[in-house]
Amino acid sequence: MKTAVYPGTFDPVTNGHIDIIERASKLFDRLYVLVGENPQKETTFTAEDRVEMLKNALKKHSSRVSVEHFEGLLLDYAKKKRSNVIVRGLRAISDFEYEFQRAQFNREFAKDIETIFIMTKDDYAFLSSSIIKEIAMFGGSVKGFVPEIVEKKLKEKFRK
Ligand code: COA
Repeated sequence: MKTAVYPGTFDPVTNGHIDIIERASKLFDRLYVLVGENPQKETTFTAEDRVEMLKNALKKHSSRVSVEHFEGLLLDYAKKKRSNVIVRGLRAISDFEYEFQRAQFNREFAKDIETIFIMTKDDYAFLSSSIIKEIAMFGGSVKGFVPEIVEKKLKEKFRK
């Protein structure tokens, strides 16, 4: 059985992430979407909210995809899930250096875990969770860029 993990902060999940999940799920028997913390970033949504939004957005998707929160090192969690593949999305050349460094680091510490990259669909190449939050914060529409549940949660958050 081929198992992969797709980690991210997902603060919040965008349609760019959903596209990667849909495409990655066709390549593996089981895909764990892992909601984690990047210590360099403070999140807008709590871990529970981020997991809930992902679960809601993926409820009509394959039962081979599951969403979990994780703490600690990604490599340790991937091993716990018996996964030897890490999936990451690549949007543009600007992502490359950052992702290259992380993939190299991960390989150094776990030789049997491979990182694979899926190129983001053109339509989402410019998307990021930060830009979505910035638009929503100033009352702009994010329709079509994020799942409906995220649109609703962003409205609630920034109305306050
Ligand atoms: N479509 C749209 N946006 C995308 C995208 C896609 N396909 N792929 C990535 N992004 C965006 C995200 O929205 C995010 O944007 P933002 O910075 O504006 O919020 C950005 O790209 C990258 O964030 P993300 O994919 O969430 O990853 P990250 O670099 O913040 O890493 C973890 C998050 C949890 C995976 C990482 O910090 C981690 O592994 N933590 C555990 C500790 C650890 O093991 N560290 C060592 C790692 S080598």
